[in-house]
Amino acid sequence: MVFQGDLMAESDKVFAGSIPKFYDTLMVPLIFEAYAAHMAELVAAAWPGSVLETAAGSGVVTRALAPKLKPDARYVVTDLNQPMLDYAATRQGSDRRIEWRQADALALPFDDASFDVVCCQFGAMFFPSRVAGYAEARRVLRPGGRFVFNVWDRIEENAFADEVTNAVAAVFPHDPPRFLARTPHGYHDVALIRDDLSRAGFAEIEINTREEMSRAPSARDAATAYCQGTPLRNEIEARDASLLQLATERATEAIASHHGNGPVAGKIQAHVIVAAG
Ligand SMILES: C[S@@+](CC[C@H](N)C(=O)[O-])C[C@H]1O[C@@H](n2cnc3c(N)ncnc32)[C@H](O)[C@@H]1O
Repeated sequence: MVFQGDLMAESDKVFAGSIPKFYDTLMVPLIFEAYAAHMAELVAAAWPGSVLETAAGSGVVTRALAPKLKPDARYVVTDLNQPMLDYAATRQGSDRRIEWRQADALALPFDDASFDVVCCQFGAMFFPSRVAGYAEARRVLRPGGRFVFNVWDRIEENAFADEVTNAVAAVFPHDPPRFLARTPHGYHDVALIRDDLSRAGFAEIEINTREEMSRAPSARDAATAYCQGTPLRNEIEARDASLLQLATERATEAIASHHGNGPVAGKIQAHVIVAAG
């Protein structure tokens, strides 16, 4: 059953204001770096001449992948939100192979059959239509090209996200902010992912579930990352901006109660998908 509160909200896709900085400095080391290193290896393994990255965010995959690509590769890095790309560009050394471009993954401004690989780390959950997003990736792939992407597994398999969601819900019991469960962790059904890819035209689909550990110097760092470096912040502020610190405090207490008062570590889990054909 889908609850009204579980349908994607407009604010879910807004990564702007102070989010890019908190996202990149706190969220990226916490949960994105390990998967970015793996994705860079998967993409580079085919030695592609041209790569399109969609929903690139603050550039964690770009930083991992660029050093692995051919000296004459073309690497086009895109995201819906220009502030994320601006932040990514400030973190990337000068590299003539990289072209930064604002683009919606559902309406890519590129010709058919123009890339060897399309990659997308933790972006598909934000697409209003996954089938349309996948079909668009397939359209710009050359024959024989590969679409490499990942999505988070269910929130219960991702310790800090689950604990933060429950703690923040207690601050707003009548209208709990559900961003993390609804969007980043709302698209984890492997059969559905396979079906969406088939409907978009992909014939070869490989899905592997990958567990990693998420580490932070303290429970407060992890809680601040989730509450202030993701669109959960938009949801909290829309209810009562003066409660952002209290919500972060409650999330800190919840993480500390499960993982201790020193450095914290919690399980994270995602599905890694390679589609072709
Ligand atoms: C969780 S972040 C992932 C960013 C980056 N790939 C990473 O691994 O850190 C999701 C990203 O999807 C972007 N996004 C949301 N909807 C999008 C769309 N329709 N097309 C392209 N990017 C989109 C957001 O701006 C955000 O940067």
